[in-house]
Amino acid sequence: MKIVGKTKILGIIGHPVAHSLSPLMHNAAIEALGLDFVYVPFPVEPESLSAAVHGLRALGVRGFNVTIPHKSVVMPLLDKISPEAELCGAVNTVSNENGLLVGYNTDGTGLLKSLRDDLGFKPGGSVVLILGAGGAARGALASLCNAGVSRIIVANRTRERGEALVETFRDRFGKVSFHLSSLETGRLEENLKAADLLVNTTSVGMNGTSFDGLNLASMASHAKVYDMVYSPAETPLLADARRNGLACANGIGMLAAQGEAAFSIWTGVESPPGLMKDRVLAEIVA
Ligand code: ATR
Repeated sequence: MKIVGKTKILGIIGHPVAHSLSPLMHNAAIEALGLDFVYVPFPVEPESLSAAVHGLRALGVRGFNVTIPHKSVVMPLLDKISPEAELCGAVNTVSNENGLLVGYNTDGTGLLKSLRDDLGFKPGGSVVLILGAGGAARGALASLCNAGVSRIIVANRTRERGEALVETFRDRFGKVSFHLSSLETGRLEENLKAADLLVNTTSVGMNGTSFDGLNLASMASHAKVYDMVYSPAETPLLADARRNGLACANGIGMLAAQGEAAFSIWTGVESPPGLMKDRVLAEIVA
């Protein structure tokens, strides 16, 4: 990679960012396409966010990704927010359009693409059970509602948080029916039976953690299971899905697809199909 006077800068802000796989994915695509860009990590402490965003604008950085814990707090610092990012209440991609910072959210696009490519899932008319009610759940609801699902059931540990999420979306999507479920064993059974798709949006599954007593045996044989967690590659939830003969996938496809969508916003060029995913997989296996 040759950096010259007119090389355009891309990057990621977060805290921490040392673990991020985005620099690898984006630089692999830049290199494969021979573009004059470079993608770098910027660790930004929460109290420095405003200064960092002003600095990135002043430096003429072409675009940047935003990750935990800045995805929502960055919004008031930007000049324009896309309708999808507004609905998600979070921005993961910022594009510097001649000094105007525009916030996008490509996580939803990423989820839908991964559901289609990795599981062959078609959202139209389907029943989806979502585990969790945080930022990632909100993004999933936004994209799934826009894609035409007929029913969404939210199961969250803290009931009030699930209620608040459902209320927000009920007002926006009159054609989708929304339900709340407990995460507790027994109470979840009926909803597991009804679901065409189960999506885990929580961090449960990372570092070997698992949902207490959750058992997928009652899911329909055609149902699919998606876990946004990708490390470990097979979470206890996915192992359970596999044991029950259900089609399932981890969040690698979503990670790669949200990156592809951001890349094309910044560069105007598509990343070569499959390249970002292969790069991430090679890193995780290595
Ligand atoms: P994110 O932006 O990644 O979604 P978040 O907004 O902090 O992160 O939300 C985390 C989600 O994971 C929440 O739904 C949280 O449940 P609570 O609302 O009850 O806190 C869920 N979560 C985290 N750890 C969990 C655990 N051990 N068991 C069940 N749910 C968990």
